[in-house]
Amino acid sequence: MPTQPIVRLGHPALRTPLEAVDGERLSDPEIRRALDDLVATLREAGSDGLAAPQLGLELQIFAYEVAEGDGRVAGAIPLRVVINPMITPHGHEQVADWEGCLSIPELRGLVPRHGEVRVRGLDPDGNRLDYVAEGLEARIVQHEYDHLNGVVFLDRMRDLRSLAYEAEWRRYLRDAGEEPEPTALG
Ligand code: NI
Repeated sequence: MPTQPIVRLGHPALRTPLEAVDGERLSDPEIRRALDDLVATLREAGSDGLAAPQLGLELQIFAYEVAEGDGRVAGAIPLRVVINPMITPHGHEQVADWEGCLSIPELRGLVPRHGEVRVRGLDPDGNRLDYVAEGLEARIVQHEYDHLNGVVFLDRMRDLRSLAYEAEWRRYLRDAGEEPEPTALG
């Protein structure tokens, strides 16, 4: 399966709010290829999630997955591919945690996110998705959803003073007992 280069901050696709994918087009070869590239590149990059604009594709699609044994979640977060997502907060809890982004390499920052979100959209077969994500999954979903609206995690930080290079973050800021190390969210 081919993988595609990940575009970085400055590429217009990362700052362009996208039109929804026409549900009738899900079987088009162009869309199927985009879906395959997204999943293959997500796995190759070893991140938690990836959104289509990060491949320079102006499609409202993101994918995420956390493998069994990762240690940050009980069990695993199975692969989800979500098309035309709509995200709404579920409850009022806000949680701050560290995020990184494949399109903003080597940086980490503290980002407040909703603790739980309701996710609606379509799966690659055109079936309706409607589920609640919490914890790490909720954070991944919000990070990836933002990519579809031209928003990156830097925009969500309340205080840019927590921004750090990964090496320094690992050395000075990360909780000493924290295992395993968080990865880039996507
Ligand atoms: Ni990202």
